[in-house]
Amino acid sequence: MNGLATSTARHGNPPLRVALLGCGTVGGAVLRLMDEQGDDLAARIGRRVEVVGVAVRRPDHHPDVPAHLLTTDAQALVVRDDVDLVVEVIGGIEPARSLLMAAFEAGKSVVSANKALLAEDGVALHAAAAKSGVDLYYEAAVAGAIPLLRPLRESLAGDQLRRVVGIVNGTTNYILSRMAETGAGFAEALAEATELGYAEADPTADVDGFDAAAKAAILASLAFHSPVTASDVYREGISAVTAIDVARAAEIGCTVKLLAICERVGDGDGASIAVRVHPAMIPTSHPLAAVGGAFNAVFVEAEAAGQLMFYGQGAGGEPTASAVLGDLVAVSRNRLAGAAGPGTTSYAGLPVRPMAEAPTRYHVSLDVADKPGVLATVAQEFARHGVSISTVRQDGRGDAATLVIVTHSAPDAALSATVTSLREMDIVRAVTSVLRVEGLA
Ligand code: HSE
Repeated sequence: MNGLATSTARHGNPPLRVALLGCGTVGGAVLRLMDEQGDDLAARIGRRVEVVGVAVRRPDHHPDVPAHLLTTDAQALVVRDDVDLVVEVIGGIEPARSLLMAAFEAGKSVVSANKALLAEDGVALHAAAAKSGVDLYYEAAVAGAIPLLRPLRESLAGDQLRRVVGIVNGTTNYILSRMAETGAGFAEALAEATELGYAEADPTADVDGFDAAAKAAILASLAFHSPVTASDVYREGISAVTAIDVARAAEIGCTVKLLAICERVGDGDGASIAVRVHPAMIPTSHPLAAVGGAFNAVFVEAEAAGQLMFYGQGAGGEPTASAVLGDLVAVSRNRLAGAAGPGTTSYAGLPVRPMAEAPTRYHVSLDVADKPGVLATVAQEFARHGVSISTVRQDGRGDAATLVIVTHSAPDAALSATVTSLREMDIVRAVTSVLRVEGLA
Protein backbone atom coordinates (compact mmCIF):
# COMPACT_ATOMS: atom_id res chain seq x y z
CA MET A 1 0.00 0.00 0.00
CA ASN A 2 3.01 2.30 -0.39
CA GLY A 3 1.49 4.17 -3.28
CA LEU A 4 -1.64 5.14 -1.35
CA ALA A 5 -0.42 8.58 -0.40
CA THR A 6 0.52 9.56 -3.93
CA SER A 7 2.57 12.70 -4.33
CA THR A 8 0.82 15.78 -5.65
CA ALA A 9 3.89 16.83 -7.56
CA ARG A 10 3.79 13.91 -9.99
CA HIS A 11 0.57 15.10 -11.56
CA GLY A 12 0.68 18.84 -11.21
CA ASN A 13 -2.81 19.45 -9.90
CA PRO A 14 -3.66 18.56 -6.32
CA PRO A 15 -5.27 15.14 -5.99
CA LEU A 16 -8.87 14.50 -5.09
CA ARG A 17 -8.82 13.35 -1.50
CA VAL A 18 -10.93 10.42 -0.39
CA ALA A 19 -12.17 9.35 3.03
CA LEU A 20 -12.86 5.62 3.17
CA LEU A 21 -15.40 4.56 5.79
CA GLY A 22 -14.97 0.87 6.54
CA CYS A 23 -12.17 -1.46 5.56
CA GLY A 24 -13.63 -4.96 5.47
CA THR A 25 -13.65 -7.22 2.42
CA VAL A 26 -14.95 -4.53 0.07
CA GLY A 27 -13.04 -1.61 1.61
CA GLY A 28 -9.80 -3.58 1.53
CA ALA A 29 -10.34 -4.41 -2.15
CA VAL A 30 -11.11 -0.74 -2.89
CA LEU A 31 -7.83 0.31 -1.28
CA ARG A 32 -5.84 -2.32 -3.13
CA LEU A 33 -7.36 -1.55 -6.54
CA MET A 34 -6.91 2.20 -6.04
CA ASP A 35 -3.29 1.53 -5.31
CA GLU A 36 -2.72 -0.88 -8.20
CA GLN A 37 -4.65 1.19 -10.73
CA GLY A 38 -3.65 4.65 -9.50
CA ASP A 39 -2.09 5.74 -12.79
CA ASP A 40 -5.01 4.53 -14.91
CA LEU A 41 -7.56 6.12 -12.58
CA ALA A 42 -5.64 9.40 -12.73
CA ALA A 43 -5.57 9.28 -16.52
CA ARG A 44 -9.30 8.52 -16.72
CA ILE A 45 -10.30 11.16 -14.20
CA GLY A 46 -7.72 13.78 -15.10
CA ARG A 47 -6.52 13.98 -11.52
CA ARG A 48 -5.05 11.55 -9.03
CA VAL A 49 -7.32 10.23 -6.28
CA GLU A 50 -5.66 9.79 -2.93
CA VAL A 51 -7.01 8.12 0.20
CA VAL A 52 -6.34 10.49 3.11
CA GLY A 53 -8.17 8.63 5.85
CA VAL A 54 -9.66 5.22 6.60
CA ALA A 55 -12.23 4.97 9.38
CA VAL A 56 -12.35 1.60 11.12
CA ARG A 57 -13.49 0.27 14.46
CA ARG A 58 -10.28 -1.56 15.33
CA PRO A 59 -7.11 -0.08 13.81
CA ASP A 60 -5.01 -3.03 15.02
CA HIS A 61 -7.03 -5.31 12.69
CA HIS A 62 -5.65 -3.51 9.62
CA PRO A 63 -1.88 -4.04 9.48
CA ASP A 64 -1.89 -3.57 5.67
CA VAL A 65 -3.16 0.00 5.88
CA PRO A 66 -0.57 2.72 6.64
CA ALA A 67 -1.12 3.56 10.29
CA HIS A 68 -1.25 7.33 9.70
CA LEU A 69 -4.41 6.85 7.57
CA LEU A 70 -6.37 4.93 10.17
CA THR A 71 -8.84 6.59 12.50
CA THR A 72 -11.71 5.47 14.68
CA ASP A 73 -13.41 8.87 14.38
CA ALA A 74 -15.43 8.57 11.18
CA GLN A 75 -17.55 11.62 12.02
CA ALA A 76 -14.48 13.86 12.19
CA LEU A 77 -13.00 12.31 9.04
CA VAL A 78 -15.99 12.97 6.75
CA VAL A 79 -16.03 16.71 7.51
CA ARG A 80 -12.29 17.27 7.36
CA ASP A 81 -11.28 20.15 5.07
CA ASP A 82 -8.78 17.94 3.28
CA VAL A 83 -11.48 15.43 2.24
CA ASP A 84 -13.24 15.92 -1.11
CA LEU A 85 -15.08 12.62 -1.51
CA VAL A 86 -16.42 9.97 0.84
CA VAL A 87 -16.62 6.23 0.13
CA GLU A 88 -18.88 4.41 2.59
CA VAL A 89 -18.60 0.62 2.84
CA ILE A 90 -19.52 0.05 6.48
CA GLY A 91 -23.15 -0.96 5.82
CA GLY A 92 -26.12 -0.80 8.19
CA ILE A 93 -28.31 2.16 9.04
CA GLU A 94 -26.37 3.94 11.79
CA PRO A 95 -23.83 5.43 11.99
CA ALA A 96 -23.79 5.32 8.17
CA ARG A 97 -26.83 7.61 7.77
CA SER A 98 -25.41 10.30 10.07
CA LEU A 99 -22.03 10.09 8.36
CA LEU A 100 -23.53 10.50 4.89
CA MET A 101 -25.70 13.40 6.02
CA ALA A 102 -22.66 15.08 7.57
CA ALA A 103 -20.68 14.53 4.37
CA PHE A 104 -23.42 16.13 2.22
CA GLU A 105 -23.73 19.03 4.64
CA ALA A 106 -19.98 19.56 4.30
CA GLY A 107 -20.26 19.55 0.49
CA LYS A 108 -18.71 16.16 -0.19
CA SER A 109 -19.96 13.68 -2.76
CA VAL A 110 -20.54 10.14 -1.54
CA VAL A 111 -20.10 6.69 -3.04
CA SER A 112 -21.89 4.05 -0.97
CA ALA A 113 -22.39 0.30 -1.13
CA ASN A 114 -25.05 0.42 1.57
CA LYS A 115 -28.24 -1.26 0.35
CA ALA A 116 -29.97 -1.29 3.73
CA LEU A 117 -29.56 2.45 4.15
CA LEU A 118 -30.54 3.35 0.57
CA ALA A 119 -33.58 1.07 0.82
CA GLU A 120 -34.70 2.70 4.05
CA ASP A 121 -33.87 6.34 3.52
CA GLY A 122 -33.01 6.85 -0.15
CA VAL A 123 -35.40 9.77 -0.63
CA ALA A 124 -33.95 11.81 2.26
CA LEU A 125 -30.38 11.01 1.28
CA HIS A 126 -30.95 12.04 -2.34
CA ALA A 127 -32.63 15.24 -1.18
CA ALA A 128 -29.69 16.06 1.10
CA ALA A 129 -27.19 15.43 -1.69
CA ALA A 130 -29.22 17.57 -4.13
CA LYS A 131 -29.53 20.39 -1.60
CA SER A 132 -25.74 20.53 -1.30
CA GLY A 133 -25.21 20.09 -5.06
CA VAL A 134 -23.15 16.93 -4.60
CA ASP A 135 -23.40 13.33 -5.77
CA LEU A 136 -24.77 10.18 -4.19
CA TYR A 137 -23.81 7.08 -6.21
CA TYR A 138 -24.38 3.51 -5.00
CA GLU A 139 -23.93 1.07 -7.88
CA ALA A 140 -22.37 -1.51 -5.51
CA ALA A 141 -25.50 -1.62 -3.33
CA VAL A 142 -27.43 -3.80 -5.80
CA ALA A 143 -26.00 -6.86 -7.54
CA GLY A 144 -22.33 -6.15 -6.80
CA ALA A 145 -20.27 -5.73 -9.94
CA ILE A 146 -23.20 -5.62 -12.35
CA PRO A 147 -23.70 -2.19 -13.94
CA LEU A 148 -27.38 -1.79 -13.25
CA LEU A 149 -28.27 1.37 -11.34
CA ARG A 150 -26.44 3.66 -13.78
CA PRO A 151 -28.28 2.09 -16.74
CA LEU A 152 -31.58 2.58 -14.89
CA ARG A 153 -30.75 6.15 -13.82
CA GLU A 154 -29.11 7.27 -17.06
CA SER A 155 -29.20 4.97 -20.09
CA LEU A 156 -32.90 4.16 -19.72
CA ALA A 157 -33.94 7.62 -18.52
CA GLY A 158 -35.70 8.23 -21.84
CA ASP A 159 -37.79 5.08 -21.71
CA GLN A 160 -40.76 3.82 -19.69
CA LEU A 161 -39.99 0.73 -17.66
CA ARG A 162 -42.62 -1.98 -17.28
CA ARG A 163 -40.85 -4.60 -15.17
CA VAL A 164 -37.57 -5.29 -13.47
CA VAL A 165 -37.16 -8.94 -12.45
CA GLY A 166 -33.96 -10.03 -10.82
CA ILE A 167 -31.99 -12.76 -9.16
CA VAL A 168 -30.23 -10.40 -6.75
CA ASN A 169 -29.07 -12.75 -4.01
CA GLY A 170 -26.23 -15.13 -4.75
CA THR A 171 -26.54 -17.23 -1.60
CA THR A 172 -30.12 -18.26 -2.29
CA ASN A 173 -29.41 -18.76 -5.98
CA TYR A 174 -26.58 -21.11 -5.07
CA ILE A 175 -28.85 -23.08 -2.72
CA LEU A 176 -31.70 -23.34 -5.25
CA SER A 177 -29.27 -24.29 -8.02
CA ARG A 178 -27.87 -27.12 -5.89
CA MET A 179 -31.38 -28.31 -5.00
CA ALA A 180 -32.16 -28.52 -8.72
CA GLU A 181 -28.88 -30.24 -9.58
CA THR A 182 -28.81 -32.81 -6.78
CA GLY A 183 -32.42 -33.26 -5.66
CA ALA A 184 -31.38 -32.15 -2.16
CA GLY A 185 -33.78 -30.50 0.24
CA PHE A 186 -33.32 -26.95 1.48
CA ALA A 187 -31.54 -27.84 4.75
CA GLU A 188 -29.01 -30.06 3.01
CA ALA A 189 -28.26 -27.48 0.30
CA LEU A 190 -27.92 -24.72 2.91
CA ALA A 191 -25.46 -26.84 4.90
CA GLU A 192 -23.37 -27.33 1.77
CA ALA A 193 -23.50 -23.59 0.97
CA THR A 194 -22.38 -22.77 4.51
CA GLU A 195 -19.51 -25.24 4.37
CA LEU A 196 -18.27 -23.83 1.05
CA GLY A 197 -18.56 -20.22 2.24
CA TYR A 198 -21.47 -19.26 -0.02
CA ALA A 199 -23.76 -18.76 2.98
CA GLU A 200 -22.92 -16.79 6.10
CA ALA A 201 -22.92 -18.41 9.55
CA ASP A 202 -26.23 -16.59 10.14
CA PRO A 203 -27.91 -16.87 6.74
CA THR A 204 -31.17 -15.15 7.77
CA ALA A 205 -30.73 -11.97 5.73
CA ASP A 206 -30.17 -13.95 2.55
CA VAL A 207 -32.38 -16.99 3.08
CA ASP A 208 -35.40 -15.06 4.35
CA GLY A 209 -35.20 -12.54 1.52
CA PHE A 210 -34.29 -9.39 3.51
CA ASP A 211 -31.21 -8.74 1.37
CA ALA A 212 -33.20 -9.16 -1.86
CA ALA A 213 -36.06 -7.01 -0.53
CA ALA A 214 -33.70 -4.08 0.13
CA LYS A 215 -32.33 -4.41 -3.40
CA ALA A 216 -35.87 -4.65 -4.83
CA ALA A 217 -36.80 -1.40 -3.07
CA ILE A 218 -33.83 0.39 -4.62
CA LEU A 219 -34.56 -1.03 -8.07
CA ALA A 220 -38.25 -0.12 -7.90
CA SER A 221 -37.49 3.42 -6.71
CA LEU A 222 -35.14 4.03 -9.64
CA ALA A 223 -37.19 2.19 -12.25
CA PHE A 224 -40.46 3.93 -11.44
CA HIS A 225 -39.27 7.27 -10.01
CA SER A 226 -41.26 6.62 -6.86
CA PRO A 227 -40.45 6.27 -3.18
CA VAL A 228 -40.20 2.58 -2.26
CA THR A 229 -38.65 1.35 0.98
CA ALA A 230 -37.73 -2.18 2.03
CA SER A 231 -40.80 -2.30 4.28
CA ASP A 232 -43.01 -1.76 1.20
CA VAL A 233 -41.68 -4.96 -0.36
CA TYR A 234 -43.63 -8.18 0.07
CA ARG A 235 -41.09 -10.79 1.13
CA GLU A 236 -40.94 -14.59 1.28
CA GLY A 237 -37.64 -16.43 1.56
CA ILE A 238 -36.65 -19.88 0.33
CA SER A 239 -36.64 -21.92 3.54
CA ALA A 240 -40.07 -23.40 2.71
CA VAL A 241 -39.03 -24.49 -0.80
CA THR A 242 -38.97 -28.29 -0.88
CA ALA A 243 -37.39 -30.91 -3.10
CA ILE A 244 -40.96 -31.66 -4.27
CA ASP A 245 -41.40 -28.02 -5.40
CA VAL A 246 -38.18 -28.24 -7.38
CA ALA A 247 -39.19 -31.59 -8.93
CA ARG A 248 -42.68 -30.29 -9.81
CA ALA A 249 -41.08 -27.26 -11.46
CA ALA A 250 -38.92 -29.52 -13.62
CA GLU A 251 -42.00 -31.52 -14.66
CA ILE A 252 -43.59 -28.40 -16.15
CA GLY A 253 -40.36 -27.25 -17.80
CA CYS A 254 -39.52 -24.75 -15.06
CA THR A 255 -36.86 -24.05 -12.50
CA VAL A 256 -37.25 -22.42 -9.07
CA LYS A 257 -35.59 -19.06 -8.44
CA LEU A 258 -35.85 -16.43 -5.71
CA LEU A 259 -37.04 -13.41 -7.70
CA ALA A 260 -37.16 -9.73 -6.89
CA ILE A 261 -40.05 -8.46 -9.01
CA CYS A 262 -40.79 -4.77 -9.52
CA GLU A 263 -43.61 -3.98 -11.94
CA ARG A 264 -45.80 -1.16 -13.01
CA VAL A 265 -49.49 -2.11 -12.79
CA GLY A 266 -52.20 -0.14 -14.60
CA ASP A 267 -51.97 3.19 -16.41
CA GLY A 268 -52.63 6.85 -15.92
CA ASP A 269 -54.11 7.96 -12.63
CA GLY A 270 -54.69 4.34 -11.59
CA ALA A 271 -51.07 3.29 -12.06
CA SER A 272 -49.25 1.70 -9.13
CA ILE A 273 -46.27 -0.52 -8.53
CA ALA A 274 -46.06 -4.05 -7.21
CA VAL A 275 -42.78 -4.97 -5.52
CA ARG A 276 -42.19 -8.44 -4.17
CA VAL A 277 -39.54 -11.01 -3.36
CA HIS A 278 -40.50 -14.67 -3.33
CA PRO A 279 -39.51 -18.00 -4.83
CA ALA A 280 -41.16 -18.72 -8.16
CA MET A 281 -41.13 -21.24 -10.97
CA ILE A 282 -39.85 -19.78 -14.23
CA PRO A 283 -39.62 -21.57 -17.58
CA THR A 284 -36.19 -23.05 -18.29
CA SER A 285 -36.28 -21.06 -21.55
CA HIS A 286 -36.37 -17.77 -19.62
CA PRO A 287 -32.96 -16.02 -19.60
CA LEU A 288 -33.01 -15.89 -15.78
CA ALA A 289 -33.38 -19.69 -15.55
CA ALA A 290 -29.84 -20.14 -16.86
CA VAL A 291 -28.37 -18.03 -14.05
CA GLY A 292 -26.76 -20.68 -11.85
CA GLY A 293 -24.63 -20.84 -8.73
CA ALA A 294 -24.01 -17.61 -6.85
CA PHE A 295 -24.41 -15.37 -9.92
CA ASN A 296 -26.92 -12.52 -10.13
CA ALA A 297 -28.89 -11.26 -13.12
CA VAL A 298 -31.57 -8.67 -13.70
CA PHE A 299 -34.06 -8.74 -16.55
CA VAL A 300 -35.59 -5.42 -17.55
CA GLU A 301 -38.61 -4.82 -19.78
CA ALA A 302 -39.01 -1.32 -21.17
CA GLU A 303 -41.58 0.11 -23.59
CA ALA A 304 -39.11 1.17 -26.27
CA ALA A 305 -35.94 -0.78 -25.47
CA GLY A 306 -37.78 -4.09 -25.10
CA GLN A 307 -36.05 -6.77 -23.08
CA LEU A 308 -32.60 -6.30 -21.53
CA MET A 309 -30.56 -8.55 -19.28
CA PHE A 310 -27.71 -7.67 -16.91
CA TYR A 311 -25.61 -10.55 -15.59
CA GLY A 312 -22.55 -11.02 -13.39
CA GLN A 313 -21.12 -11.38 -9.92
CA GLY A 314 -23.36 -9.95 -7.24
CA ALA A 315 -21.02 -10.19 -4.28
CA GLY A 316 -17.40 -10.53 -3.25
CA GLY A 317 -14.69 -8.01 -2.43
CA GLU A 318 -13.23 -7.31 -5.86
CA PRO A 319 -16.44 -7.42 -7.91
CA THR A 320 -18.13 -5.05 -5.46
CA ALA A 321 -15.01 -2.84 -5.36
CA SER A 322 -15.18 -2.60 -9.15
CA ALA A 323 -18.61 -0.98 -8.85
CA VAL A 324 -17.39 1.32 -6.07
CA LEU A 325 -14.42 2.45 -8.17
CA GLY A 326 -16.63 3.04 -11.21
CA ASP A 327 -18.72 5.36 -9.05
CA LEU A 328 -15.61 6.99 -7.64
CA VAL A 329 -14.43 7.81 -11.16
CA ALA A 330 -17.88 9.25 -11.99
CA VAL A 331 -18.16 11.46 -8.91
CA SER A 332 -14.53 12.58 -9.32
CA ARG A 333 -15.18 13.65 -12.91
CA ASN A 334 -18.33 15.48 -11.82
CA ARG A 335 -16.44 17.25 -9.08
CA LEU A 336 -13.71 18.39 -11.46
CA ALA A 337 -16.38 19.62 -13.87
CA GLY A 338 -17.91 21.61 -11.01
CA ALA A 339 -21.15 19.72 -11.50
CA ALA A 340 -23.23 16.98 -9.92
CA GLY A 341 -24.40 13.95 -11.87
CA PRO A 342 -28.03 13.14 -12.50
CA GLY A 343 -29.96 13.02 -9.26
CA THR A 344 -32.89 10.78 -8.58
CA THR A 345 -36.35 12.10 -7.92
CA SER A 346 -39.56 10.45 -6.88
CA TYR A 347 -41.58 12.73 -9.15
CA ALA A 348 -43.96 9.97 -10.33
CA GLY A 349 -45.00 9.19 -6.75
CA LEU A 350 -46.66 5.90 -7.70
CA PRO A 351 -48.18 4.09 -4.72
CA VAL A 352 -47.07 0.57 -3.87
CA ARG A 353 -49.93 -1.86 -4.34
CA PRO A 354 -50.50 -4.33 -1.47
CA MET A 355 -49.40 -7.89 -2.24
CA ALA A 356 -53.00 -9.08 -1.92
CA GLU A 357 -53.83 -7.07 -5.07
CA ALA A 358 -50.68 -7.92 -7.03
CA PRO A 359 -51.42 -10.04 -10.10
CA THR A 360 -49.69 -13.42 -9.77
CA ARG A 361 -50.04 -16.99 -11.08
CA TYR A 362 -49.84 -20.14 -8.98
CA HIS A 363 -48.76 -23.70 -9.51
CA VAL A 364 -50.60 -26.07 -7.13
CA SER A 365 -50.07 -29.84 -6.77
CA LEU A 366 -52.69 -31.86 -4.91
CA ASP A 367 -52.89 -35.49 -3.84
CA VAL A 368 -56.48 -36.58 -4.45
CA ALA A 369 -58.57 -39.70 -4.82
CA ASP A 370 -59.13 -40.56 -8.48
CA LYS A 371 -62.93 -40.59 -8.48
CA PRO A 372 -65.58 -39.08 -10.74
CA GLY A 373 -66.30 -35.49 -9.80
CA VAL A 374 -63.04 -34.77 -7.95
CA LEU A 375 -61.56 -32.66 -10.73
CA ALA A 376 -64.85 -30.79 -11.14
CA THR A 377 -65.01 -30.07 -7.41
CA VAL A 378 -61.43 -28.83 -7.32
CA ALA A 379 -61.99 -26.69 -10.43
CA GLN A 380 -65.14 -25.28 -8.84
CA GLU A 381 -63.11 -24.08 -5.85
CA PHE A 382 -60.82 -22.09 -8.13
CA ALA A 383 -63.85 -20.65 -9.93
CA ARG A 384 -65.50 -19.72 -6.63
CA HIS A 385 -62.49 -17.48 -5.88
CA GLY A 386 -62.53 -15.95 -9.36
CA VAL A 387 -59.37 -17.79 -10.40
CA SER A 388 -59.11 -19.09 -13.95
CA ILE A 389 -57.18 -22.32 -14.55
CA SER A 390 -54.61 -22.40 -17.36
CA THR A 391 -53.59 -26.08 -17.33
CA VAL A 392 -54.44 -29.24 -15.39
CA ARG A 393 -52.52 -32.49 -15.46
CA GLN A 394 -53.30 -35.70 -13.65
CA ASP A 395 -50.56 -38.14 -12.72
CA GLY A 396 -51.24 -41.61 -11.30
CA ARG A 397 -54.61 -43.16 -10.58
CA GLY A 398 -56.69 -44.74 -7.86
CA ASP A 399 -55.56 -43.65 -4.42
CA ALA A 400 -52.29 -42.22 -5.71
CA ALA A 401 -53.54 -39.54 -8.09
CA THR A 402 -51.92 -36.12 -8.25
CA LEU A 403 -53.47 -33.05 -9.85
CA VAL A 404 -51.04 -30.40 -11.06
CA ILE A 405 -52.77 -27.10 -11.73
CA VAL A 406 -51.34 -23.87 -13.15
CA THR A 407 -53.60 -20.85 -12.96
CA HIS A 408 -53.92 -17.73 -15.04
CA SER A 409 -53.11 -14.43 -13.42
CA ALA A 410 -55.32 -13.35 -10.50
CA PRO A 411 -54.96 -11.13 -7.44
CA ASP A 412 -52.58 -12.88 -5.04
CA ALA A 413 -55.19 -12.86 -2.26
CA ALA A 414 -57.64 -14.83 -4.43
CA LEU A 415 -55.00 -17.44 -5.20
CA SER A 416 -53.91 -17.73 -1.61
CA ALA A 417 -57.53 -18.06 -0.44
CA THR A 418 -58.09 -20.80 -3.01
CA VAL A 419 -55.16 -22.78 -1.61
CA THR A 420 -56.49 -22.35 1.94
CA SER A 421 -59.87 -23.73 0.82
CA LEU A 422 -58.26 -26.64 -1.02
CA ARG A 423 -56.36 -27.63 2.12
CA GLU A 424 -59.70 -27.90 3.96
CA MET A 425 -61.48 -30.07 1.35
CA ASP A 426 -62.11 -33.73 2.23
CA ILE A 427 -61.32 -34.93 -1.27
CA VAL A 428 -57.88 -33.29 -1.14
CA ARG A 429 -55.55 -35.61 0.77
CA ALA A 430 -52.65 -33.15 0.71
CA VAL A 431 -51.54 -29.97 -0.98
CA THR A 432 -48.01 -31.06 -1.81
CA SER A 433 -46.62 -28.02 -3.61
CA VAL A 434 -47.66 -24.39 -3.96
CA LEU A 435 -45.41 -21.93 -5.74
CA ARG A 436 -45.97 -18.80 -7.79
CA VAL A 437 -45.17 -19.00 -11.48
CA GLU A 438 -43.58 -16.21 -13.52
CA GLY A 439 -42.90 -15.85 -17.21
CA LEU A 440 -45.04 -18.73 -18.52
CA ALA A 441 -46.87 -18.05 -21.78
N1 HSE B 1 -25.26 -11.73 0.64
C1 HSE B 1 -25.54 -11.26 -0.68
C2 HSE B 1 -25.70 -12.43 -1.61
C3 HSE B 1 -24.49 -10.36 -1.24
O1 HSE B 1 -25.70 -13.59 -1.18
O2 HSE B 1 -25.90 -12.19 -2.78
C4 HSE B 1 -24.51 -9.00 -0.63
O3 HSE B 1 -25.72 -8.35 -0.87
